[in-house]
Amino acid sequence: MAAGAGIRTVNLCKVYTSPPPAASGAATLTLGPQRGPGLRNKKVEIQALAGLSLEVRPGEIFGLLGPNGAGKSTTAGILTTRIRPTSGEAWVGDYEVWRDQVKAKRLIGVVQQRPNLDFSLTAREILQFHAAYFGIGKAERNKLSSELLERFQLTDRADELVRGYSGGMMQRVAIARAMMHHPRVLFLDEPSTGLDPQTRLLLWEIIREYNAEGTTILLTTHNMEEADALCGRIAIIDHGKMIALGTPAELKASIPGGYLLRARLSLGADEAAGRLRNEAGVSEVQVTGGRLDIYADRGGALVGLLVSAASACGAELLDLEISEPSLENLFLHHTGRSLRQ
Ligand SMILES: Nc1ncnc2c1ncn2[C@@H]1O[C@H](COP(=O)(O)OP(=O)(O)O)[C@@H](O)[C@H]1O
Ligand SMILES: [Mg+2]
Repeated sequence: MAAGAGIRTVNLCKVYTSPPPAASGAATLTLGPQRGPGLRNKKVEIQALAGLSLEVRPGEIFGLLGPNGAGKSTTAGILTTRIRPTSGEAWVGDYEVWRDQVKAKRLIGVVQQRPNLDFSLTAREILQFHAAYFGIGKAERNKLSSELLERFQLTDRADELVRGYSGGMMQRVAIARAMMHHPRVLFLDEPSTGLDPQTRLLLWEIIREYNAEGTTILLTTHNMEEADALCGRIAIIDHGKMIALGTPAELKASIPGGYLLRARLSLGADEAAGRLRNEAGVSEVQVTGGRLDIYADRGGALVGLLVSAASACGAELLDLEISEPSLENLFLHHTGRSLRQ
């Protein structure tokens, strides 16, 4: 099998000049003044990517992690020649994807966020037609399709029209299809959305196996567990920009303190924060409204201090959540928001 190819983007920007299609799965936008009378012709400008530079090594499983609307699908869309960048460069292997679309396409397998399958075909036909399109001979495509159908636990229903499939089954067909022509780079846009937990684990296993044969994999997800479980390196993106990059372990270690205590006080959050900042082991305290985010090198052991700080300010502790080092906390640290929001 051909070895994986690398991926590179240089200062990639994308500004959409029309609103997202209603059913795009993209974050909903409030167009505000757009809707007002007389302003109908005002130009829409949505900055989906604001100078994203990435470097994915051949053979890596690389994750783009970010909340809805971060620009993940736009990045995948540009790298797979579906979306034209506004500026910047995107490379797969030795090809700049927009200039060398045909050559770039031969290197890649793509699974879009929403499966685009021909409902009038069976799963087996979808895999075989795809392979035929890529010039794979009949004996080989019969063998490959049977193997993949088996691996994705679709053999029983392989000769039924996919129209009757569940969402999870369609997703599996879409992924199997992308693997049929042995791409050197596989793009998976939110591959496990809509899958039940068991199928998700099966998919993770298949992705790891596939990668072990050398294929480079770029996967997007808003699920930090998925990124943590699968990816050698992760870029966390938000608003079309990279906010952190590294291995899951490096990223988690980069959170000041590691543990996060999120507390809500009845009053005096600023004053309590001031007191806590001086405590040993507390590396950072952020205040948003009445909420305190305390980054520290221990979790439960700080609760006593927190309660004392609150009472010293005449405040009551209304709510407390303690979490261990995680990518979710890293995202919170950088943006003040949760990945799940
Ligand atoms: N086809 C489109 N036309 C206009 N705006 C779009 C389109 N696709 C995405 N957007 C907007 O671009 C931003 C990034 O979207 P997207 O790349 O889909 O993010 P993600 O995949 O991380 O959820 C969002 O604000 C989204 O609404
Ligand atoms: Mg997306």
